Amino acid sequence: MSGFGQGAVALVTGAAGSMGLATASMLAAEGYRVAMADLAGAKLDAAVAGIGASARGFGFDISDPAAVETAFRKIESDLGPVDVLINNAGILSNNKVAETTPDEWRKVLAVNLDGAFYLSRLVVPGMKARKRGRIVNTCSFAMKSGGLTAGTAYTTSKGALAALTFSLARETTSFGITVNAIAPAYIRTPMVEEQLTQAQRDALLKQIPVGRFCEPEEFAHCVHFFLSPLSGFITGEILDLNGGLQFD
Ligand SMILES: NC(=O)c1ccc[n+]([C@@H]2O[C@H](COP(=O)([O-])OP(=O)(O)OC[C@H]3O[C@@H](n4cnc5c(N)ncnc54)[C@H](O)[C@@H]3O)[C@@H](O)[C@H]2O)c1
Repeated sequence: MSGFGQGAVALVTGAAGSMGLATASMLAAEGYRVAMADLAGAKLDAAVAGIGASARGFGFDISDPAAVETAFRKIESDLGPVDVLINNAGILSNNKVAETTPDEWRKVLAVNLDGAFYLSRLVVPGMKARKRGRIVNTCSFAMKSGGLTAGTAYTTSKGALAALTFSLARETTSFGITVNAIAPAYIRTPMVEEQLTQAQRDALLKQIPVGRFCEPEEFAHCVHFFLSPLSGFITGEILDLNGGLQFD
């Protein structure tokens, strides 16, 4: 069992957002060197500064394949080979099918799905050569429920990300790589606190058996679980993080 942590390089996308930042913080505390990827700007700079020396910020648009390739090469030249990739950047759209414009559809798929593909195609060859790697994708409960509040493009993007998880897991497991995903529901983030109405939040809290929203640190803990050497027999798994909303 080859271990991770202690100097291994983890690339976290959406790292200036709530769940990405909680994950980057946890991985830095566990001894990883963390490449924090997000759109360039003050939010990313502040997130990196908050973690300190073990984090480096890389600002780029995950939906732009040329920008992703340039950034990935820089990350590997600055920090070394990427051992762990957390595909977490994402945008929410709550519009149902008739209200979803073709531009909105393309944008949501480009960020939530294409970005994970662009980074995976760059990181997997090196992981295969080194016979070591972990990939964790942030899916969503929406893909299982059809979207209680989430819209058509978002729900579809996360379902396709689950299929990408299975495809990568099938291809890479015999190379010492695991590829898993997490399907969270309603983490206490701006997506929930700002993009849902108070009435939607009240209704949801009545439906979630645990009786509260999930904390970003609980998501980070799930990521960390997949990175443990003792998780090396788990691949192609979609871990539910939904407070009992649904079992399967
Ligand atoms: N919050 C929830 O309840 C919830 C539930 C299920 C799944 N998710 C998923 O978890 C992930 C993180 O969500 P969050 O709540 O932390 O959201 P967030 O908005 O706080 O963070 C998302 C981050 O992604 C970045 N991002 C957006 N577009 C980008 C692009 N084109 N290139 C690079 N970075 C980009 C944003 O700048 C932001 O910092 C997302 O994939 C989201 O779909 C969230």
